[in-house]
Amino acid sequence: MAQRSDHSTVSGDENGGEEHPTSPVVAEIEAKSTESAVAVIGHPVHAMLVHFPIALAIAVLGCDLLVWITGDPFFARAGTWAAGGAFLSGALASLVGIVEVLLVPGIRARAASWTHASAGMTFLAALAASWGLRLVGLPVVPDALALSLICTVLAGVAGYHGGKLIFEEGIGINMSRG
Ligand code: HEM
Repeated sequence: MAQRSDHSTVSGDENGGEEHPTSPVVAEIEAKSTESAVAVIGHPVHAMLVHFPIALAIAVLGCDLLVWITGDPFFARAGTWAAGGAFLSGALASLVGIVEVLLVPGIRARAASWTHASAGMTFLAALAASWGLRLVGLPVVPDALALSLICTVLAGVAGYHGGKLIFEEGIGINMSRG
């Protein structure tokens, strides 16, 4: 067992069989604060907002599939509203995420934050295209449907990498180390 900078140990298993002390670069990153800069009573606001774009992006896909199956134009209108809601709530969530990345040293220092930020911005760009093109009359099947499929996949990618920030990097978790 090797010693970590926070006095925990790194087992041979964790290090792929090799036992060695945590690198000073990793120790320096781990020492930086990861406390959320935009939080309500300790709860990161970004984490509260991201459910809306994710759920609405999936709702758009549902609407598009219902247009395809039923041909009812009601679902095309509902899809346009849902796409608008997804984009606007995604823009708000992303704004808060950007503030977190810029203001919190421990978030900014982690490569995983930038991977997630890139995925989030790509998702937001796809939502903008999905909403904007619907507003100018893009046919739902197959064009807008293809876009909503892409948005749903990107929601999964952004959400997965966001979750990794919380569960693997410990960002936004306010917990005593004992
Ligand atoms: C609409 C696009 C985005 C989605 C769907 C999204 C999704 C997520 C999710 C699911 C989490 C984990 C929350 C939890 O498990 O409680 C998260 C955390 C996080 N995301 Fe995003 N994200 C988006 C955009 C961004 C952008 C553009 C940035 C930064 C430039 C960003 C920065 C962060 C940070 C710093 C965290 C850690 C928690 C916090 O400090 O608030 N996100 N995100």
